[in-house]
Amino acid sequence: STGECSYTFEEYEETANWLLERTEHRPKIAIICGSGLGGLADQLAERSVFPYTEIPRFPQSTVEGHDGQLVFGKLNGKSCVCMQGRFHMYEGYSAAKVTYPVRVFRLLGVEILIVTNAAGGLNPTFNVGDIMLIKDHINMPGFAGMNPLCGQNDERFGLRFQCMSNAYDQDLLSLAQKTAQAHGYTAFLQKGVYCMLAGPTYETVAEGRLLQTLGADAVGMSTVPEVVVAHHCGLRILGFSLITNKVVTDYESRKHANHKEVLETTQTRSQDLQELVRSMLAKM
Ligand code: 6GU
Repeated sequence: STGECSYTFEEYEETANWLLERTEHRPKIAIICGSGLGGLADQLAERSVFPYTEIPRFPQSTVEGHDGQLVFGKLNGKSCVCMQGRFHMYEGYSAAKVTYPVRVFRLLGVEILIVTNAAGGLNPTFNVGDIMLIKDHINMPGFAGMNPLCGQNDERFGLRFQCMSNAYDQDLLSLAQKTAQAHGYTAFLQKGVYCMLAGPTYETVAEGRLLQTLGADAVGMSTVPEVVVAHHCGLRILGFSLITNKVVTDYESRKHANHKEVLETTQTRSQDLQELVRSMLAKM
């Protein structure tokens, strides 16, 4: 390692090669499952499962309700690799550590990254249980120096100065919209901007209002570092936020954000999100 915040190409390679020696799958699609959204990984057929604790150099997951394993297998006939449980900055990991698996995916031969998360709704037209297609993001930790691409750049992965105006793939977004329509999901399908905060605290009322004025439609504590690193190394990206609660934006409200509500709402709509992703895979 070249220091606390970065890894060498050889380290990513070592992890990728270790996996390639232990599975026959050669997935072109990687899926990062968010809080309560790991059910997708359970559906894979012809599975090879690797607990994070067994994978050389892989970070370890600490948050409650997350499993920590990499699952290779077939979903709707397509080879995939799923992260069942992701890493968060609020766990104390550097942005480099949070995104370690993404570069491993690249070295496995992955071309498409699907990211899912649970998020708070900021857009007043959103309802709890809505699925938001991520069309863009606001990298708030990045503004504060916590960008995963800080540090030495390795040209084998990508450019020193990465363009981010085209991070989310237009064609995958259209395919998701079409597929959602075909399933009759339009009533709860949204499209918007995801804002990442490092967490682990939820927003104050003033912060929630601030994010609304900044043009954010949903807020969460994940996904953006992985997307930055994935876009840098040339992966096409598709992102979904499940709106698990509405951000409190008035001082009179008796409602308060809590993790239990987030997990409960995820239960009710996660099946639809899983079906949407499963169905899309045939056309990717
Ligand atoms: Cl309301 N805020 C943040 N930062 N993350 C969330 C959330 C809210 N709901 C789910 N994840």
